[in-house]
Amino acid sequence: MAEKLILAYSGGLDTSVAVRWLKEERGYDVVCLTVDVGMQKDRETLQSRALAAGGVAFRWAEAQETFIRHFAFPALAAGAVYEKQYPLATALGRPLIAKVLVDTARQEGATAVGHGSTGKGNDQVRFDVSVQALAPDLRIVAPVREWGMTRDEEIVYAQKHEIPVPVTKESPYSTDENLWGRSIECGVLEDPWTEPPEDVFEWTKSVADAPDKPGYVEIGFERGMPVALDGRELDPVSLVNRLHELAGEHGVGRIDHMENRLVGIKSREIYEAPAAVALLRAHEGLEQMTLSKEQVRLKERIAQEYADLIYNGLWFTVHHQDIAAYVQSTQRHVTGSVRVRLHKGTAMVVGRKSPKSLYDFSLATYDKGDVYDQSAAPGFIHIWGLPVRVQARAQMLAEEGE
Ligand code: ARG
Repeated sequence: MAEKLILAYSGGLDTSVAVRWLKEERGYDVVCLTVDVGMQKDRETLQSRALAAGGVAFRWAEAQETFIRHFAFPALAAGAVYEKQYPLATALGRPLIAKVLVDTARQEGATAVGHGSTGKGNDQVRFDVSVQALAPDLRIVAPVREWGMTRDEEIVYAQKHEIPVPVTKESPYSTDENLWGRSIECGVLEDPWTEPPEDVFEWTKSVADAPDKPGYVEIGFERGMPVALDGRELDPVSLVNRLHELAGEHGVGRIDHMENRLVGIKSREIYEAPAAVALLRAHEGLEQMTLSKEQVRLKERIAQEYADLIYNGLWFTVHHQDIAAYVQSTQRHVTGSVRVRLHKGTAMVVGRKSPKSLYDFSLATYDKGDVYDQSAAPGFIHIWGLPVRVQARAQMLAEEGE
């Protein structure tokens, strides 16, 4: 009997050809698994395509809620943004897909899993390292990394084997999308000097087409997690979907990044992440009000570490568990509401309030009601400036005199 392999199946050219290749060249019974992390794809179409390509079965795993609740929102709480630009949508999706691959492999008694990543990207690292952490006994096969076919050769292979491939107008781009954002690469985008043409964007209006009148949205948080929009409580998936519409309408969330891949390549990447960008701003705005200076400063450093570990495929690690525990602890008092103005590509925090606010009007005001003891200031400054005076006298002023 043939061994079983569970293939992460997107329905595109690569994974469709991979189904047949794994069967012909490696002798596997291929079960195609599509993990729904929020890409708008039609289940029936994928199923018939997977089976026509030679799969022995098709499985569909609904994972949108898990993705937002356990992957995207924790990254939001951490403030994780790669190289100050990329909210990590694709990078966050991979470990979850790997987890479902492993779970399915166990249920189906498979000995191997497969994915459609190339040998030049970060995604192969995320898939492989995640599977290795969760199920070291499973074999991992990445056909695109092994077969050495160009895209045109793949199309010929597909025709020869009568594999139905998406007949839609050939997109010149390579894209990946989930509920946290869209990643777009290849085609004219490979020239870093070329401005991204309008047709790479699907979720956001251009600044030119965005309304002249700003839009406002009030985002409610509880312990660092978004829970409401404009005063209405929403489940995580609905909240993110709604925010994609609101922010996308105003052209918020377009990103053009020269990125350092883990595999050593610099690459030009375009992203669209309207909800993520608006939520990151809002969350940061609320933290500024509810965390101490020291907490904010340390969290900024941790955010970078957190983004790197997500980007570099280290989701299923003890290091991540440790950092996540710290981040979660910092969110205990990050509860409140933030008003964000969406306008011509920008998302700006223009109001915030919290029952746990550390802002004290009577300390901050220059008007009536001031309780700050200004007479204590000179004493504070005297001590604060002490080492400055000592060193200046001993070293700076003395040198001038020499
Ligand atoms: N460079 C991004 C990352 O490494 C996006 C990858 C997009 N993947 C794709 N198959 N188009 O996370």
